Amino acid sequence: MLDIEKIRSETPGCKTKIHFDNAGGSLNPRHVTATVVNYLDREQVIGSYEAAEEAKHLVDNFYTNFSNLLNCNKSEISFIENSTRAWELAIHSINWAPGDQIITGENEYGSNYLGLLHLARRKSLRIVTIPAGEDGLISLNHLEQSINARTKLIALTHIASQRGDIQPAPSIGEIARKHNVLFLLDACQSVGQINLDTKEINCDFLCGSGRKYLRGPRGTGFLFVKSKTLKILEPIFLDLHSATWNDVESYEFAKSARMFECWERNVAAMIGLATAVEYLSTLGVVAVENRIKQLSSSLTAGLSKLKDVNVLEKSNFRSGIVTFTKGGIDATNLKEKLSKVNINISVCKKENARLDLGKESTGDVNRASLHYYNTQQEISRFLQELKKLK
Ligand SMILES: Cc1ncc(COP(=O)(O)O)c(C=O)c1O
Repeated sequence: MLDIEKIRSETPGCKTKIHFDNAGGSLNPRHVTATVVNYLDREQVIGSYEAAEEAKHLVDNFYTNFSNLLNCNKSEISFIENSTRAWELAIHSINWAPGDQIITGENEYGSNYLGLLHLARRKSLRIVTIPAGEDGLISLNHLEQSINARTKLIALTHIASQRGDIQPAPSIGEIARKHNVLFLLDACQSVGQINLDTKEINCDFLCGSGRKYLRGPRGTGFLFVKSKTLKILEPIFLDLHSATWNDVESYEFAKSARMFECWERNVAAMIGLATAVEYLSTLGVVAVENRIKQLSSSLTAGLSKLKDVNVLEKSNFRSGIVTFTKGGIDATNLKEKLSKVNINISVCKKENARLDLGKESTGDVNRASLHYYNTQQEISRFLQELKKLK
């Protein structure tokens, strides 16, 4: 059982706002912010390289904490400044040949899809997009039938920015293994809110962001790459941290996921994220997942009772992300009105999710995304305020 009162007392942001924009960025625990600030203080006083040396163990905790969270090896984790960059580093490290095929879903995150379009144009690749069925989930049959001899990668988003349905990652991983195809999972919205096990998911790559459900600082993210897969990849960018310069003309990649990292980074933010992951592990991911699902089903039930509100999620596998429209009110206008009464929600723009929201007549949609520190009282107040809006 989570001690919600204690958790909220450790989360200063809870005092002033109802924060239902955790899928955008969640509220940092006090201890995470303190770690960052204390580290910056040390940089100021003793010098930046010296502070990094002093905090070596905290930097190392980043890898240990993520390997525990994702059930993988420390050497399979890299620190990257955000999820989009981690995702791009992964796809560009694959040895592509013209005519190769990539399978993705229509729920794919907009920046990822742009990355796919760009890669496909530069390397003459084919993109196949699998739609979600009536049940809100990507059809596994359709996905498997789309695999052919040229398919090299399945790149899917676990929980979309604009849809809270949880896609069946382990079943997709099984299909990828069966057909010997690489599997990249965008876990940006799932990491920190549901239990992720890279062995169970059977993915080659998994990426995420620190500021969302992990409650870390902005400008942080990570990339997991399975050790067996590392051996067949070629990172596109190198520095003296990701590779060794052996001789004037020769070099070799680091023999770990470090081959994707850059030596120069925001150490304060990195150890802030390490602290956030530690905080999560003391609470227990399963307890967190259960609490979020409980709150989210209560919110969905409340929204469904409002006659002019339409909830977009369709599956039986729901997360903390709940998207909806309210008849007669534009999504941006609704967000602004709620902001005036100290409630944070967000807007998912149709133009950023063209494959998904683009096919519906709804236009932009609103997103309320709950974390475990939110409460039933906050949900009731949100529903009351929403009901009043015209
Ligand atoms: C599903 C998904 N993937 C990727 C991203 C991009 O994350 P970042 O901003 O850390 O690059 C987001 C951001 O909202 C997202 O929702």
